[in-house]
Amino acid sequence: MPFYVQLGEVPPKRHTTFYKPDGKSLYREELFSTKGFTGIYSNKYHLYMPPQVESIGEIKQTADNSWPDAPLQYYHFKTDSKKSKGNFIDARKEYLKNDHCIMSTAHVTEDTDVFYRNSYKHEIVFVHHGKGKFYSEYGVNPFEQWDYIVVPKGTTYQMKFDDFKDVKLFIIESDTPFDIPRHFRNEYGQLTEDAPYYERDFKPPHFTEPIDKQSKFDLILKVSNRTFKYQLPHHPFDVVGWDGFLYPYTFNLKEYAPKVGKIHLPPPIHLMFTTQHFVVCNFVPRLFDFHPQSIPAPYYHSNVDSDEVLYYVYGDFMSRTGVEEGSITLHPMGIPHGPQPGKTEASIGKKETDEYAVMIDTFTPLKVTRNVKETMVKDYHQSWLEK
Ligand SMILES: [Fe+2]
Repeated sequence: MPFYVQLGEVPPKRHTTFYKPDGKSLYREELFSTKGFTGIYSNKYHLYMPPQVESIGEIKQTADNSWPDAPLQYYHFKTDSKKSKGNFIDARKEYLKNDHCIMSTAHVTEDTDVFYRNSYKHEIVFVHHGKGKFYSEYGVNPFEQWDYIVVPKGTTYQMKFDDFKDVKLFIIESDTPFDIPRHFRNEYGQLTEDAPYYERDFKPPHFTEPIDKQSKFDLILKVSNRTFKYQLPHHPFDVVGWDGFLYPYTFNLKEYAPKVGKIHLPPPIHLMFTTQHFVVCNFVPRLFDFHPQSIPAPYYHSNVDSDEVLYYVYGDFMSRTGVEEGSITLHPMGIPHGPQPGKTEASIGKKETDEYAVMIDTFTPLKVTRNVKETMVKDYHQSWLEK
């Protein structure tokens, strides 16, 4: 999405005849677009007609995971304390959700040959641990630890892992696209010189030859909270070429170039992606504020229009006690939060931090699921009490 890409073979003019080598039969063009034909898009050229399906069936629903009487409070839960099992689709466990956003984790333990498509949500798959290849109609995106894999809504894909010794994913779903913030781009769309990343940091797919295979292929479709299985009569990765701005890409958390100030800068300085209903920010190693009396730890704050979520990736998080890799904290709107006792004082005079975390600030309240109830640190909401 950050820039135009062309892979494989495409006709010189879009929406014109494009014949297969026999000179008689046509490749099938598919315009894949966002925002009602006004957003970014790509044109893909298939061996077979994309709508072909042999059969459609609904997969049995899993139990409702809501926790309706959850109190409004601070939450800290450890997503590694209840490990899931399964493939890259069914190992997902939802922790936080609202109408626009779902956050899940997955401990992936098995391979699968089925294909997956999230029909209603764009996805970020953050690879906390694991290495492998992400296959889609657009080609292949190799991925490794701490890669964001940004997957446009409606993309058909498969994830293949090098091994299953330790695979952990953090998945963020959004009903609107993950965008590069407008103020990081100039009037031509190019990333500006003061943006925290550059086009080179975003990795588009590599081309793979189209797969010309007619058989039965299972595609799992997520449609809101329902799941369907489509049986396709041909391999879905039958694209001979495509071009455009809409495609899956990767970005590694370590490539983010943070900004620092003389005194404490607020979280928007760590911005990575925007959506219409929430933002994604990166906390990465950086030098601390350089005013001689600066306090590097954040001040107590009430961000009254945001629920604030942090997924802890690595390191010693300077303002938070008791968190570990795979922890998530939720600090909801309407109540103030900030460093735990002793953390403010401990930060004074520190020169740098070695923390990695992903932050999601939502503009509508999140609901916590039963997975939170089962993994939460019960007395976290009392962790600010001065003893
Ligand atoms: Fe905060």
